[in-house]
Amino acid sequence: MIARSKDRVVLAAVSDDQVVGMAKTHFHEEPDGAAPAGHYLGGVVVGPKSRRLGIGSALTRARLEWIWTRSSTAYYFANEHNTASIQMHEALGFQPRGRTKEIRGVRADDGRADLILFEASR
Ligand SMILES: CC(C)(COP(=O)(O)OP(=O)(O)OC[C@H]1O[C@@H](n2cnc3c(N)ncnc32)[C@H](O)[C@@H]1OP(=O)(O)O)[C@@H](O)C(=O)NCCC(=O)NCCS
Repeated sequence: MIARSKDRVVLAAVSDDQVVGMAKTHFHEEPDGAAPAGHYLGGVVVGPKSRRLGIGSALTRARLEWIWTRSSTAYYFANEHNTASIQMHEALGFQPRGRTKEIRGVRADDGRADLILFEASR
């Protein structure tokens, strides 16, 4: 299931009429500190019972295909401790670009952890 607007897309993964995962993108027209302008992946979540089945990767590949028709660069950021997210995104080509306490108003663990900014290229 796909909902599109000019600048962003929201995807739902459905299995047996149940939503098992959601994911979206954000478009930022302006840089914010060290965070460049551009298309960002955001808010990917897969239901706990449906994890490690490739759903998060499929939602991420589909969003990257959507971004690649608009831009040659995609960004994403994660809590430094989110191993599942980081491993999944690194397997899909994301590489770390830097780390900081806050990106676009988001902090990790109330500022106790770093956020890592990642970049992937078409
Ligand atoms: C991150 C998340 C979306 C991954 O979804 P998923 O459908 O389980 O991911 P996939 O099945 O596509 O996994 C792809 C690869 O990512 C890595 N991975 C996924 N979960 C992992 C875990 N718990 N620990 C370590 N590596 C993990 C593995 O390399 C995996 O490949 P493998 O299963 O062949 O070993 C899911 O764990 C989730 O919803 N987490 C909570 C929300 C969240 O943190 N979202 C990201 C915010 S930045």
